[in-house]
Amino acid sequence: MRPVLGESPLRAQAAAAQLTLPYNPALKSDDIELIVGEANAWLETAGLKVAIRYDSAAMLHRRHGGQNELLGRAVGVKNDRHPIVFDATGGLGRDAFVLADLGCRVTLCEQTPALAWLLQDAILCAQVSRHEAVRDAAGRMTVHAGNSEAQSLGAATVIYIDPMFPERKKAAAVKKEAMMLQYLSASNDGGESLMDWASQQAVDRIVVKRPVKAPVLGERKASFSLSGKSVRFDVFVRHAQAGE
Ligand SMILES: C[S@@+](CC[C@H](N)C(=O)[O-])C[C@H]1O[C@@H](n2cnc3c(N)ncnc32)[C@H](O)[C@@H]1O
Repeated sequence: MRPVLGESPLRAQAAAAQLTLPYNPALKSDDIELIVGEANAWLETAGLKVAIRYDSAAMLHRRHGGQNELLGRAVGVKNDRHPIVFDATGGLGRDAFVLADLGCRVTLCEQTPALAWLLQDAILCAQVSRHEAVRDAAGRMTVHAGNSEAQSLGAATVIYIDPMFPERKKAAAVKKEAMMLQYLSASNDGGESLMDWASQQAVDRIVVKRPVKAPVLGERKASFSLSGKSVRFDVFVRHAQAGE
């Protein structure tokens, strides 16, 4: 990457320094740019713009989506149980936000520095949102920049993995975001390496998001799977618990 363009020069310069990227307020290139405004920021390339806003109309709408319930059940959310989750594939933090909104504390780890910066910025914005639920959820989210395989899991009892997967039929908006993540992602082995690493960690469960018809990631058989219309969550439980 790729210049940081400044709509808000001071904030853009600070981001450029933190990310050791060239700051360039004028240049427009074919490369991916991180554009930093006063109260927002986004990634842009060739007409493709991707921002993270946890209190956007789309995200507020998504709070009530059926897939959230599946994701919550996959990580083991119950009325009186809100597992601490290590999201090893932070991305745009959508799934992490859903989990935080369900009451989980979530540490997101993202290997692409500019994305990790964008996540951190989005969480800080969400912490002062006018929507109380968004503020509360953002207060349960923490970002780490770097390779998940090199991080300490702290008190996390669940590892969540949502690896890149070749895009098929998807809504235009989702496709745009997936394309941006594909551009940015340094390595993409489809999640095999993360799964190997996760399998060696002392957590209660690993949850892997897959397209509904995709094969299971890794060698192990999933303890159980929860399928929606287009997405499936494969759950690998360390010690199967009653009722699961
Ligand atoms: C499909 S996206 C995840 C989307 C995310 N679940 C969301 O809701 O926005 C996968 C992301 O994982 C990141 N990633 C892949 N391997 C990683 C690793 N070993 N450590 C940290 N991040 C990783 C990629 O850079 C990419 O941004």
